[in-house]
Formats: sequence, C-alpha cells, structure tokens
Amino acid sequence: MKPIRIGLIGCGGIANGVHLPQLSEEDGVTITALCDINPEALKRTAEKYGVPSERQFSDYKALIACEDVDAVDICTPNYLHCPMAMEAVSARKPFSVEKPVGINVEEVEALYKAASAAGIPAMVCFSYRFMPAVRYARKYVEDGKLGKINSVYVQYLKDSAFIEGRRLDWRFVKEYARYGVSGDLGVHLLDLSTFLAGPVTRVCADLQTVVPWRKRLDSEELAPVETDDTCNFLAEYSGGAIGTFGITRCAIGHKNTISMEIYGDKGALRFNLNHNDRLWMLEDGAFAEHAVPEEYFAHSVQMREFIRMLRGEKDPFTPGLEEGLSCQRVLDAIMESAEKRVWANI
Ligand SMILES: NC(=O)c1ccc[n+]([C@@H]2O[C@H](COP(=O)([O-])OP(=O)(O)OC[C@H]3O[C@@H](n4cnc5c(N)ncnc54)[C@H](O)[C@@H]3O)[C@@H](O)[C@H]2O)c1
Repeated sequence: MKPIRIGLIGCGGIANGVHLPQLSEEDGVTITALCDINPEALKRTAEKYGVPSERQFSDYKALIACEDVDAVDICTPNYLHCPMAMEAVSARKPFSVEKPVGINVEEVEALYKAASAAGIPAMVCFSYRFMPAVRYARKYVEDGKLGKINSVYVQYLKDSAFIEGRRLDWRFVKEYARYGVSGDLGVHLLDLSTFLAGPVTRVCADLQTVVPWRKRLDSEELAPVETDDTCNFLAEYSGGAIGTFGITRCAIGHKNTISMEIYGDKGALRFNLNHNDRLWMLEDGAFAEHAVPEEYFAHSVQMREFIRMLRGEKDPFTPGLEEGLSCQRVLDAIMESAEKRVWANI
C-alpha cells in the first residue's frame, strides 16, 4: 500500500476532535505537517501527533508547498477555505475542505472550475452523509418506497449560543463566517436533504440573532454579534416537494439534535442522528423502528473516505466540490431571501 502523507491546516476543534484522530488510525497514513497561526494550538497538536518542528508551519502556503505533504486537509474558519484550496490546486495536491466550502457562490464556483480543469480530487466534509442511517434512507428512497416525495421536515437543534462565557469567536463575525447557523449547521442538512429528496430550486428564509452581544476574544468589551443564531426556511425541491427547516443554536436542552422526516405518496421515513444506527419507516400505517443493517456502516468514517479517495477508490456518495457548490447556491439564496424578505430562486 502506497504511504500517504497528510498536511493539515487549522489545529482547532474539528481537527483535533475528528480529522486527526481518524487520520491517525488509518494504515499507511502519516500526518507529516501541521499549520496554525496560533503557536500554542500548533505546538500542542504537533506534540500529540509527533510532527517535528521543521514541519510545523504558521504559513499555509509553506505547508502546501512542503515536499513531505501529498494531500492537504483544510480545517480553518470559513473565509480561508477557498484561498487555501486554490493554493492546493496550484500545487497539484488533492485536498479535503471543511464546510461550507466558502463564503459566497463566486469563490466556490471558481474553485470548482479550477479543481475540475486541473483534475485535482477534493472532498467536502459534509459529515452526516457518511452516517449509516442516512445511507440506509437513501437506499429506501432509491427503491421507490416513498413514491413521489411531497414534504421534508428537518430540525437541527443545539443550545451552544448559551454556553456560559462564550465570546465573539469567528463564527459570530461576518467577515470570517459570512453565514450564521445556515452555513454552520444547516448546510449539512441541505446536503442531506438534496441527497435524499433532490435539488432545491428556491427558498424563503428568516434569520434571527437571539444573543446580540458578546465579549470580544481579547478584552472585556462587548461587541455586536454579526451573524444569526436561528434560521428558519422553506425550500422547494425540483420534484415539487416542500422542505421545512428549523436550524438553531438557541434550543435550550439540546446538545446536538438532528432529525429529518420525509413523506411521499406511498411511504415515509424518519431518522434522528443521535441514533444514527436506526431508521423509522412507515409500515401498515405506523412508523416501525429498524436497526440499520451492517453493510450501511461501510463508509461511516469520514476521513477514511478521504484516504480512499486519495487511493483512487472514491465511493460515489462521498461529497466533492460539485455538492459543495450546489449547497453554496442555496446558502446564498437563504441570505438573499432573508434580507429582501422574498422567495429567492437558486
Ligand atoms: N463537519 C463538521 O461537522 C464540522 C464541525 C465543526 C466545525 N466544522 C468546520 O470546521 C472549520 C473549523 O471549525 P473549528 O470549530 O475547528 O474552528 P476553531 O476555531 O476551533 O479552529 C480553527 C483553527 O484554525 C486556525 N487558523 C485561523 N486562521 C488560520 C490561518 N490563516 N492559517 C492557519 N490556521 C489558522 C485557528 O487558530 C484555529 O486553531 C469551520 O469551517 C467549521 O465550519 C465542521
């Protein structure tokens, strides 16, 4: 098996919580280089994963250029994804990029075109795509068990806006995040609903900022929160179905509750990703709980799918820039709709 050397940029929450633990478990994979502008985060992560000082970078361009890096893993705040991914394309290195791919359609479209033209493989971290219940749901839909889909109901509920002492981190600053919860949480579900119910053609959205002020990161001064923390929207699908989305980080009591229900003229399904090994399907007029069969767990480790892609064994359901771009179009339409208070077409 050909060894693969990964360089990761952004040694924060998602890198240390998901990417690095998963990558370090893969046979034939070495984390050879790390990059962060925060020296403590860089040092702490490098010590944990045994990355030597000569391959600890503060400049992402130096990491991408490093000859001991075969592929790049981008885990930084949203506004940095596209410039970093473009640099990887220029260096002809495949990459994985966190969601949302960028902060507007234009930059994601440019990245998609550049990566496609150069033939550089890319994975977008729509993490919930890899979940067994979602793969099983997809099979159920493909088998025609729902018939013609008419309604999709989606909820993503968290209480993280109320974390005691949470400050004005990048997620609350427009320049760094652009989107509020639609880009942070909702984009996962946009991707899932597209995966199961088809493309979205127009949206009607409302955004609210429930916690309007936070202390700055580096002082006790209060500053305005610039992004929303609650986003409700309707989505119309190309097949005519309507989706109702409720996305918030202000649902007190919910750590991370993701649920989806899809109704057709022949059947219905629902799942709750706190139980991602279960799927509820309509049987004899009532929802029946099913354990997801073992085979649907085959692609459930996100970063293993990145390695498979690098080895030329990409699963067809692993999301790439095309899926990233189609979600980005919906995100921008959500912003337009909320701002102008109209339905916005994709
Ligand atoms: N797929 C998922 O379920 C999921 C979950 C959480 C976060 N994310 C995404 O992951 C990304 C990072 O989120 P996070 O929660 O880890 O944020 P974070 O703030 O915890 O970590 C970001 C890291 O990037 C570093 N950084 C900032 N600018 C940099 C630069 N110019 N060069 C190098 N490093 C730089 C920061 O110092 C920090 O260590 C976001 O895009 C977020 O949307 C995805």
